[in-house]
Amino acid sequence: MSRSAHPAGPRHADVLPEGHYSAPPTDLNALDPKVWARTVERRADGVLTVGGVGVDRLADTHGTPAYILDESDFRARCRAWRQAFGDDADVFYAGKAFLSRAVVRWLREEGLNLDVCSGGELATALAAGMPASAIAFHGNNKSAAEIRRAVEAGVGRIVVDSYEEIDRVAAAARELGVRQPVLVRVTVGVEAHTHEFIATAHEDQKFGLALAGGTALEGIRRVLAAEDGLELLGVHSHIGSQIFDLAGFEVSARRVVQLMGTVRDEFGVTLPEIDLGGGLGIAYTAGDDPLEPADIAKTLRDIVERECAAAGLAVPRLSVEPGRAIIGPSAFTLYEVGTVKPLEGLRTYVSVDGGMSDNIRTALYDAEYSVALVSRTSQALPMLVRVVGKHCESGDIVVRDAYLPADLAPGDLIAVAATGAYCRSMASNYNHVLRPPVVAVTEGEDRVIVRRETEEDLLRLDVG
Ligand code: LLP
Repeated sequence: MSRSAHPAGPRHADVLPEGHYSAPPTDLNALDPKVWARTVERRADGVLTVGGVGVDRLADTHGTPAYILDESDFRARCRAWRQAFGDDADVFYAGKAFLSRAVVRWLREEGLNLDVCSGGELATALAAGMPASAIAFHGNNKSAAEIRRAVEAGVGRIVVDSYEEIDRVAAAARELGVRQPVLVRVTVGVEAHTHEFIATAHEDQKFGLALAGGTALEGIRRVLAAEDGLELLGVHSHIGSQIFDLAGFEVSARRVVQLMGTVRDEFGVTLPEIDLGGGLGIAYTAGDDPLEPADIAKTLRDIVERECAAAGLAVPRLSVEPGRAIIGPSAFTLYEVGTVKPLEGLRTYVSVDGGMSDNIRTALYDAEYSVALVSRTSQALPMLVRVVGKHCESGDIVVRDAYLPADLAPGDLIAVAATGAYCRSMASNYNHVLRPPVVAVTEGEDRVIVRRETEEDLLRLDVG
């Protein structure tokens, strides 16, 4: 499998990158713009700055570990997606990648919609003033209370995922005297990896209604039959995550459009919307080559237009749901080195003050990351390191294989790039380690948007 492939999600756990490390980079002090947020650079004294603020000041003010979020990078990516898709399409940022009230406000200011997948994400979105009409609510087992809250709030779309849920949403809508707009989530039998997609092999999973066997068509029939409570807007498909190749989207779009054709033929209904989900990949290492939003938009549009022409359908409104591709590259995690332990003939273990509680992706998916010494530059030779955390297990690995300067010492600051997506949002309190803050930086200002957890926070939940 390609070196740029990053298995994402437990379903991919059998597909791991081979040969974990390559040759050392020629310049250990260089910061590859592919993996670092856009305003990241080195000051004359070698200290990394982001948004014009040095990591020395960030560490002094906020402590380590900390997630440092480049606000202008995030906003630029929002704008790039928005502009690429234009006014006749919608971009829903997938809040599961990372969600906070500040992020919701930025999204709104940049004209994006929001995909949420739990009552907690919905509450955060509403608390930050995201209009309910701009929210899509996902999930394969939304509770009755979550459904009621969403319908009551007036969310723009509920993406229904099962026959039971069709009944539950219809019941809630009838009770509240409204007609709830819905999309039907369809499992098209495509699972996309980086340079491959495996047709039909992955219908064996929990999401959506399968195209195979007419399950999805039956779901659509049920939604249409509940027209007093439900308004069917269209069909939704999400094929995977960290995808670098649009071939899987091509297959899924074709199958979804064919289904829309069948819906027209069988029920006389033309569906106005198609949502192709998220999943576009980012660069975690120099070997990754992500697609640009403009190219993604053009390809997806072309696919949908071509398939609609073939099926004799009017082109529906397109929506997409990028999460990682927007927030992933915008943040890095800043750590302080605690111990440096050379293992003769193997590698050097560098322990930092966080670990699998702030980044579970390496342990869970064998994800790869780029790391750099950021409190100074160094002319020392490269040494092969494994960056590990402070947790009580040997799988507590942040960066499995990397090169750092051989003079690395306790007290140095190092940063792991592209940790904006699925790191804070999947963080835990394992070993009662406190979850780090998220610090937003822009134009010389740094501001905590999610504060560091405290021991009082832990004890407040523990009611004795
Ligand atoms: N839409 C739906 C329906 C999804 O399920 C997801 C992600 C997205 C959009 C956004 O996908 P993105 O553009 O961020 O790839 N925890 C894993 C990723 C799980 C993705 C789950 N669904 C990881 O850390 O790689």
